[in-house]
Amino acid sequence: MSGSNGSITITLDGTNRSTTLPLLSGTEGPDVADIRKLYANLGIFTFDPGYGETASCESKITYIDGDAGVLMYRGYPIEQLAEQSDFTEVCYLLMNGDLPNAKEFKEFRNGVTYHTMVHEQIRNFFNGFRRDAHPMAILCGVVGALAAFYHDNLDINDPEQRRIAAFRLIAKVPTIAAMAYKYSLGQPFVYPKNALANGPQGYARNFIHMLKSVPAEEYDVPDVLAKAMDRILILHADHEQNASTSTVRLAGSTGANPFACIAAGIAALWGPAHGGANEAVLKMLAEIGDVKNIPAFIEGVKDKNSNVKLMGFGHRVYKNFDPRAKIMKESCDEVLAALGVEHEPLLEIARELERIALSDDYFISRKLYPNVDFYSGIILKAMDIPTSMFTVIFAVARTVGWVSQWKELVEDPAQRIGRPRQIYTGASKRDYKPLSERG
Ligand code: CMC
Repeated sequence: MSGSNGSITITLDGTNRSTTLPLLSGTEGPDVADIRKLYANLGIFTFDPGYGETASCESKITYIDGDAGVLMYRGYPIEQLAEQSDFTEVCYLLMNGDLPNAKEFKEFRNGVTYHTMVHEQIRNFFNGFRRDAHPMAILCGVVGALAAFYHDNLDINDPEQRRIAAFRLIAKVPTIAAMAYKYSLGQPFVYPKNALANGPQGYARNFIHMLKSVPAEEYDVPDVLAKAMDRILILHADHEQNASTSTVRLAGSTGANPFACIAAGIAALWGPAHGGANEAVLKMLAEIGDVKNIPAFIEGVKDKNSNVKLMGFGHRVYKNFDPRAKIMKESCDEVLAALGVEHEPLLEIARELERIALSDDYFISRKLYPNVDFYSGIILKAMDIPTSMFTVIFAVARTVGWVSQWKELVEDPAQRIGRPRQIYTGASKRDYKPLSERG
């Protein structure tokens, strides 16, 4: 922590019992009350479902100011990184804390590039999946299976082994993601290509190559698509203690194998309230079907009993705008113009939906704005990537965030096994009755 900054006193009303706890300060953001002695001093816990007000760890990786719409990786504003950096450099930054010099960058990029292939036996896993299996299910299963390849000899307390595990994950997840896609198409798997990976936006270019090439014909990745994919990857690379990252940390706090921890993160990301939202946005647009159906759909969203949400809108932390969405919207316009997509019906629905939602009091009063997933889905659709792959691409990007957070956790001497408390509201103690005595 940067330091202690005053204290907070909690008094139990109606008693003379109170405790004074330290307030801790970070380099940015609000102070946090250190409640680690609360139970010992007062015999009470705190209650915070969804952890909206609870700092679960100390981290130096990503900072978000949800009110001001600020997102920084290692202190660098996301806008500057999206404009000037590339995903591989952002991976270095997230993992190591600083931007690399030319030599460090080259070594790091080689480290990633030369780990992109997967063991040939990994191919066998795919045959066990139905050909229509969701690629997130495949990704989760196969990334978890990497633990079987790198377990017995992996010592997470050795920094060099942590470093290699990190390279393996960042490098192999796109290869596995592309294999999941190829499997669903019934096409042969396409191997990574180092010559592509070593050029500008190389990580994104190599990934698109593995998605779109076939042995008979190599896909010549257009610059505009490589740049758009690179930007999607940068914008999704980390987002501090979100649900999937917290899942990775919780699993990691037990000392679990890092490949298994990342598989747990992939599972948490899949939900429609989190990374699954980009796929859900496109499904929603398809269900609306026509601009004329939007008013009825919006009424359904506002109806508390309908359980319908406007997917791609709202965020737990951003309450004015999502800075990633702003950049993604620009990217979306660029890609659509470059690809000549003008009158795509789903896009017209998206634009009209956005216009109506941004002027409707329901959304304004609840501070609900388009989030990153509202636009990323539209870009990916324009790139002719099937909706079932959208969350997979999010997972490819977020792997570096998960790995960096996992590394930070393992290297933090203050970390303990994650173990939240609860408020128990079930039955009080009662005695067991044999079946014959129950009414
Ligand atoms: N559509 C309609 N109403 C909404 C929406 C939405 N998308 N999001 C929140 N609300 C309402 C919610 O019903 C509640 O209304 P009321 O005060 O009348 O009860 C109010 O806004 C506050 O919402 P909340 O549920 O307390 O917000 P939360 O912080 O728990 O949830 C969220 C955040 C992202 C899960 C939620 O906004 C949501 O489900 N959005 C749609 C899914 C989505 O786009 N997720 C992607 C998030 S960004 C990518 C990522 O980081 O994973």
